[in-house]
Amino acid sequence: MTRNVLDIDDLTSEELTTVLDRAATIKAGEEAGNPLEDETLAMIFEKPSTRTRVSFETGMTQLGGHAIFLGPDDIHLGDSEPVKDTARAVSRYADAIMARLFDHADAEELAEYATVPVINGLTDDAHPCQTLADLLTIRQEFGGFDTVRVAWVGDGNNVAQSLVLGAAMVGLDLTVATPEGYEIDEEVLDRAAELGTAPETTHDPEAAVEDADVVYTDVFVSMGQEDEREEKLAAFEGFQVTTELLGDRTLMHCLPAHRGEEVTDEVIESENAIVWEQAENRLHAQNGLLVWLAERA
Ligand code: CP
Ligand code: NVA
Repeated sequence: MTRNVLDIDDLTSEELTTVLDRAATIKAGEEAGNPLEDETLAMIFEKPSTRTRVSFETGMTQLGGHAIFLGPDDIHLGDSEPVKDTARAVSRYADAIMARLFDHADAEELAEYATVPVINGLTDDAHPCQTLADLLTIRQEFGGFDTVRVAWVGDGNNVAQSLVLGAAMVGLDLTVATPEGYEIDEEVLDRAAELGTAPETTHDPEAAVEDADVVYTDVFVSMGQEDEREEKLAAFEGFQVTTELLGDRTLMHCLPAHRGEEVTDEVIESENAIVWEQAENRLHAQNGLLVWLAERA
């Protein structure tokens, strides 16, 4: 049966570990050949992207396949053709679809009607490919998950929500600090509890980082929330990751970073930041996922 990855918990915990192992093997250059020879990935983008677009396209080249970039002005999407028709037409050509969409329900519709695997390249609710890369990065930097404590400081957004689920799946200790009104969805916390453990939650960034080894943040204003900018920047006062808040902890950020908002320039440029390792691992993690999915298609 075709597998989709709309969020990280579309994989079982065991499958997640398998994909991470596969990613590490490919990264180490220990897999020969072109496993995706003659295969095509259709990449649908409703929002901009640097890492997701370049890492998936480069990954398909490295694996012997091909990727097609389909931006908002390139194909009929939304009003000009229903998502379900796009899903069925593109499935007749491509071997897999990766989509970055606003509405998570559109990703679900795409997956329902597609006959090839659908990978979520970010929706308003979830960013599972980022979580795959983040877990690969943490495992490589700290040698595993058992003794690492991560504090999320910022918005309870798509990146945070997938991280909450991924952390529960691998047994990673996570605390989430958000301003009031910007918490992780209750439904996601319930899913995390079912998968393993829901994170501790707080509205106090200092308390969240106190016992942490890693501080993870992301933009306060996500793509599509530009109208909420003033309101959000006011609500997130005190949540900026500064050198004082970070201390000697490791900094993670999915990027792009908005220096002067969620993080200072000094912090992003500091030796404590492993943000470029995270960015690189998008490529390796997704290569592991693409090969794993192709073997199940
Ligand atoms: N982290 C991430 O998804 O980056 P892009 O928006 O550049 O793809
Ligand atoms: N939360 C951010 C992540 C960007 C990769 C956004 O959705 O814009």
